[in-house]
Amino acid sequence: MESNEVLKAIRDRRSIFKYKDEDVSAEDIETILEAGRWAPSYANIQPWNFVVVRDPETKKKLFEISRRITLFREGIEQAPVIIIVAVDQEADPNHFVEAGAVASQNMALAAHSIGLSSYWVGVFDINSEKDSAEKDVIKTLELGDDARVISLLPVGKPDQTRTSERKDLEDIVIEE
Ligand SMILES: Cc1cc2nc3c(=O)[nH]c(=O)nc-3n(C[C@H](O)[C@H](O)[C@H](O)COP(=O)(O)O)c2cc1C
Repeated sequence: MESNEVLKAIRDRRSIFKYKDEDVSAEDIETILEAGRWAPSYANIQPWNFVVVRDPETKKKLFEISRRITLFREGIEQAPVIIIVAVDQEADPNHFVEAGAVASQNMALAAHSIGLSSYWVGVFDINSEKDSAEKDVIKTLELGDDARVISLLPVGKPDQTRTSERKDLEDIVIEE
């Protein structure tokens, strides 16, 4: 397969759960947010907000919420920054999930490309149950009534290496 920087970043990005006790600069966070901003969205509606959390108390609250729905991971509290990808479901009722997802992946790839790491904490609750982790994130961050949360992305300098596997192309591609 041919390779270039984009393909290499796509191939080498891994979910990282342990971060070094080092800050991430505002400039690096802006680089990541810019990558989210340039994600595609249906009719270019851009129905997203990216919430940048550095406050330890808020990070702790997000950690307590997210551990209810996921395997216990230290990363969310350890990471110096958490970016929350929120979308306005009224702005684009049909495609708000995809919009938030592509913005999230753009940001994960951008973080990787500048030597940082993240992982996707999937709080989105398709049924929008009132006691869901997603609703609690919305309350914690005081997002509006129409807000939905697609991902929480802790961002920090990686303090572990991980490997991952994928299904073979021949098992997923259907040639018509
Ligand atoms: C929609 C979505 C939700 C995810 N939710 C979680 C999660 O809640 N907790 C977690 O540890 N990882 C979560 N992940 C990360 C996946 O577990 C990870 O991407 C997958 O195992 C492949 O590993 P890799 O990213 O290192 O290649 C999520 C990923 C996606 C795309």
